[in-house]
Amino acid sequence: KNIAVFASGNGSNFQAILDATRSGELNATIQLLVCDRQNAYCIQRAEEANIPSFVFTAKQYESKEHYEAEVISHLKELNVEFIILAGYMRLIGPTILDAFPGKIVNIHPSFLPLFPGKDAIGQALLANVESTGVTVHYVDEGMDTGPIIAQEKIIIDKDETKESLEKKVHDIEHVLYVDTLKKLFNQ
Ligand code: GRF
Repeated sequence: KNIAVFASGNGSNFQAILDATRSGELNATIQLLVCDRQNAYCIQRAEEANIPSFVFTAKQYESKEHYEAEVISHLKELNVEFIILAGYMRLIGPTILDAFPGKIVNIHPSFLPLFPGKDAIGQALLANVESTGVTVHYVDEGMDTGPIIAQEKIIIDKDETKESLEKKVHDIEHVLYVDTLKKLFNQ
């Protein structure tokens, strides 16, 4: 499968997917990294792995429709079949949704539908709940609302800190995302 990964930040999930494609564990090729932040570390990761990236600044475009149309033209040129969101901090608009129906997947650091949106890990800690989790889901027009594909629970310990919980979440994300994509691509 030809895939594109969209990311805005560190890119540890991008890296986990990339490593799995290179080791042969995941039957996919990352054709492009799409990133909306000029200084994001994920861009460096792509460079080091010789993966082309399309980096854009949203406010330099007239509208979301305009930059999404440009993204789509790159994806079509590279025969991309699936879009994998990995810490991409923008809502996907109707232009991309219509061009890739049922082919856009996201990972979110909570047990959805609980704690959608930004800082889901902080939200869970603040809510004093006993567990949170990680969810892989299809993307629709809402914020973290599409059909759920896979989920895993994470217990929040009594002495949990934001840092310790973030580490647990990321460790699980990297395994769950690769496993879920494996199943998806073998269909
Ligand atoms: C992950 O926690 C993911 O669930 C969320 O954004 C974070 C991205 O982390 N959507 P990274 O950039 O992959 O390290």
